[in-house]
Amino acid sequence: MNVTHSEFRKALGCFSTGVTVITVDEGGEVHGMTANAFSSVSLDPPLVLVCVGHQARTHAHLQAKKRFGVNVLAADQRAISEYYARASESHKHAEEAGARFDRTSHGTPLLHGALAYLECRLHSAQDAGDHTIFIAEVEDVMVREGEPLLFYRGRYRNIGEELPTTAGGEQDNPADASADRMVRDRKR
Ligand SMILES: Cc1cc2nc3c(=O)[nH]c(=O)nc-3n(C[C@H](O)[C@H](O)[C@H](O)COP(=O)(O)O)c2cc1C
Repeated sequence: MNVTHSEFRKALGCFSTGVTVITVDEGGEVHGMTANAFSSVSLDPPLVLVCVGHQARTHAHLQAKKRFGVNVLAADQRAISEYYARASESHKHAEEAGARFDRTSHGTPLLHGALAYLECRLHSAQDAGDHTIFIAEVEDVMVREGEPLLFYRGRYRNIGEELPTTAGGEQDNPADASADRMVRDRKR
């Protein structure tokens, strides 16, 4: 079956995601890129992935630096997401979009006000079509309270109400559960 670009985008748009800004140090300057093709991969060791288009400037930066930050955006950081999604942006006006950064001990830019931050060291990279899957080991994390920025069907959203707990209780991600088991088994 042939799938058009538009059908493909439409179907994927139904999968709601959070929004991240991938940050990398570029000769002392901050380079950022908005990304939602981000996922956890493994608990032990802690691995995540991000898919980056070959044409994105970030692609070359990640290959060169082999270290980056993943900043999970909070609900009030939509302007920052829009800013770092502009291909032509020189990133000289980041502060006007509300983006301010600290540096981690590794020199990676850490976005103020992000809901979570993951310090990532490149583990491996796999070309896949017009993107590269960058898999990275997470060396440090920071988490703070707040609401996330969401992306659904090409538009930004706020999170809705939490659903009432069912008789089955809270649902674990089976991937996390099996990784938890692996960790427990290894400790026996
Ligand atoms: C919500 C959202 C999510 C995005 N996710 C990705 C992504 O996961 N990977 C990617 O390569 N581009 C993604 N983009 C597009 C990049 O942000 C955009 O191409 C950006 O200009 C690339 O910047 P750079 O050339 O400075 O690296 C996304 C854009 C938006 C608005």
